[in-house]
Amino acid sequence: MLNTQTKQREDASAVVSREEMMRQWEMAGQNRQLLIHRMGHPPRAWVKTFGCQGNVADSEKIMGMLIDMGCEPALDEKQADIILYNTCAIRENAQVRLLSMVGELKRLKQANPNMIIGLCGCMMQQEAVVRQIRNSFPFVELIFGTHVLHRLPQLLNRLLCGEHRVVDCFEGEGRANPIAEHLPIRRTDGVQASLQIMYGCDNFCSYCIVPYVRGREVSREPDQILREAKEILAMGYKEILLLGQNVNSYGKGLAEPINFTELLRRIEALDGDFRIRFMTSHPKDCTRELIDLIAQSKKICHNIHLPVQSGSDRVLGQMNRRYTREHYLSLISYAKEKMPDVTFTTDIIVGFPGETYEDFLQTLSLCQEVRYQCMFTFIYSPRPGTRAASMPDPVPYKEKTKRLNELIAAQHQISEEDNRAREGCIERVLVEKPSEHHEGWMSGRCENGMIVTFPAEKVQPGDFVQVRITRGLRSEYEGELVK
Ligand code: 5AD
Ligand code: SF4
Repeated sequence: MLNTQTKQREDASAVVSREEMMRQWEMAGQNRQLLIHRMGHPPRAWVKTFGCQGNVADSEKIMGMLIDMGCEPALDEKQADIILYNTCAIRENAQVRLLSMVGELKRLKQANPNMIIGLCGCMMQQEAVVRQIRNSFPFVELIFGTHVLHRLPQLLNRLLCGEHRVVDCFEGEGRANPIAEHLPIRRTDGVQASLQIMYGCDNFCSYCIVPYVRGREVSREPDQILREAKEILAMGYKEILLLGQNVNSYGKGLAEPINFTELLRRIEALDGDFRIRFMTSHPKDCTRELIDLIAQSKKICHNIHLPVQSGSDRVLGQMNRRYTREHYLSLISYAKEKMPDVTFTTDIIVGFPGETYEDFLQTLSLCQEVRYQCMFTFIYSPRPGTRAASMPDPVPYKEKTKRLNELIAAQHQISEEDNRAREGCIERVLVEKPSEHHEGWMSGRCENGMIVTFPAEKVQPGDFVQVRITRGLRSEYEGELVK
């Protein structure tokens, strides 16, 4: 019953219809033959992902669809018959790097003219970029945006049936991308599986391109999410990472009144020993009700990613973040009061247009007050079409780099101190994989999100074990198994 959910929604167009999905499956079936015919052997596919966890999750669907069309995952790019780059538009340098990497693909195409090279993802929702790609890279035959991911079988079919180049971009802007349920997903190996609960973003932070390239915010039906969560657990994954640009506003537009806290309650109620993480939370929508639930929960990790972006109210206003430093800090202290063991991570933009050194010092002091476990720091990058891109930006790049380094140095000191302070503590650890640095050691993740490596025999990825921290380093722990 693929289509029953459509009727419950206020905006039925948000869900891809059953007929449309059937058409894609039919095309996928046709492509199996056509691909073997073109390549002369079962095709090997290589999907390279740039950017955030959302793109990683999209790539898992792309690979799922390609496997459905008879492809095998290629071991590397050189031996692939189909290469797809799933691109990111968030900062300019990502874009520049991508374009130079695409240029390099020309040689592979010359060596294997049957090869299909495609580009998809956020960058392909920008008209100017697509124009540049069309003009500069004639060997890129398939170009599609985030709104037609589910239509990959049909797009590939057009190419295999003789079209010289297939381009499907831009429809998403100003609208929600349609939700396609029941796509095959080729999840990455490991103990953690990601689960997209919503798509797009309505926030329009003034620096950010996401709302333009991902369309309006739209939530999946809770039943579909629970179905997928059950499938993930049945496959043996031990950690579910719920994904959305702003998970705290989950539920908008659904006929059933449900918010993120309620969704978490339902996922938590599923059987099994597993962990739940989620990202990204927006401070303006993060509620005390949610913090209370995390505090009571045995499954939701006490580790919250809460991007602050800046510690200056003036800059937060210019960024259109719609919260104040005081509100942010009150959330943090409420969470610390309810969960003495809670840890926070954050995103920070340094050098937003017009940021003064005093504004920057506000960010620095906020970080010193919160004591983040780790932070993701970025120098502001102007994105065409966003509001901030037209704001005066007199601060030289060199000065921005200096501020960034100052912030990173302060964070290093905090991380080193706080990680050392954990020495002697016992953590419940989910074993992930053999350590890359120590023979015979395993690495895993504590509930607080930190990586810990420890000498281990007879433990497997997916086991929960107790580990005593013996050394707190800057970005991970070393430990020993508690027998
Ligand atoms: N410049 C720099 N950083 C940005 N981010 C988003 N847009 C920009 C930009 N234009 C950062 C924010 C966001 C993270 C995913 O990327 O910190 O939280
Ligand atoms: Fe971008 Fe703001 Fe939306 Fe995050 S919440 S994706 S920073 S617009």
